[in-house]
Amino acid sequence: MAFEHVSVLKKEVLEHLVFPQDRPCRLIDGTLGGGGHSFALLEKYPHLELLGIDRDENALAAAGERLAPFAGRFKAVKGTYSQLADLARQHGWEQVDGVLLDIGVSSPQIDTAERGFSWRENGPLDMRMDQTAPTTAARLLNRSPETELVRIFKEYGELKQARKIAAAVIAAREERPFASTSDLVALCDEVLGRARKGELPRPTLVFQALRIAVNDELGELERGLEAALEILSPGGRLAVISFHSLEDRIVKNFMREAAKDCICPPRLPVCCCNHKALLKLVTRHALTAEKEELELNRRSAPARLRVAEKC
Ligand SMILES: C[S@@+](CC[C@H](N)C(=O)[O-])C[C@H]1O[C@@H](n2cnc3c(N)ncnc32)[C@H](O)[C@@H]1O
Repeated sequence: MAFEHVSVLKKEVLEHLVFPQDRPCRLIDGTLGGGGHSFALLEKYPHLELLGIDRDENALAAAGERLAPFAGRFKAVKGTYSQLADLARQHGWEQVDGVLLDIGVSSPQIDTAERGFSWRENGPLDMRMDQTAPTTAARLLNRSPETELVRIFKEYGELKQARKIAAAVIAAREERPFASTSDLVALCDEVLGRARKGELPRPTLVFQALRIAVNDELGELERGLEAALEILSPGGRLAVISFHSLEDRIVKNFMREAAKDCICPPRLPVCCCNHKALLKLVTRHALTAEKEELELNRRSAPARLRVAEKC
């Protein structure tokens, strides 16, 4: 099946993830996907070498094909982007000039019913980006204690009815274990009722919460940002595209903290932390898709790009 994913904020990435033209440079694309951003960057910078990482084997295969014209300057490896510093060293790179993270799921992941990411299609309740990972969404729902389910729905879905949903999951799984996306959609309909006009469809946030938990997405992001900071050379740039407020908050806070010279509590009259800024913000505010892009690709609507430079 063709891997159809339209890269978001490509123009903005090319504008802000810049490299010197006069010397060989190295970039890690930690979320290779279909290789759309990587293709554009390899094309723009003939001296750029790129290490692409993805945890999804379908994405690696698709990107490998698409980026074949750049063989010699491009290598793809399976892994998570939280491991990017180790993967770079294994590749023989001690430092890099850029890191790109376009986090979240790709269109083929969402649009393939068998992957179980979408509540709109019936499929197995899977949601693993890495299909060899042990924990599926069904396993989480069928085995997690109630307190853990409440935490997942509250923290990752920001759902006010987290307790109610968790209690309903526990009751339902005693009758019959969860197996398909339609099992969970039926539970959402029963417990949450119909969405009012202007509200998100009810299962959206429940599915989002489970997906984040299955793939440890926020933990990955926190560790991935640290790893990027560690491996970037001075002047190297970190560009992160996120797709919901939980992720964007982590990126924003990480970049702002790292861009501060002093991180003492404000009540202290003099600085005693001796902290020096590690990053310089390139984008003061998150960049979002322009009208033309939104018209062509409505999935670009929630995307937020932030870029910072290593000091
Ligand atoms: C939005 S797509 C990237 C699209 C890509 N930038 C392009 O232009 O084609 C996100 C990709 O990141 C991968 N991914 C998400 N979280 C990951 C993680 N923690 N480690 C490695 N890959 C991850 C997904 O499997 C997916 O293929």
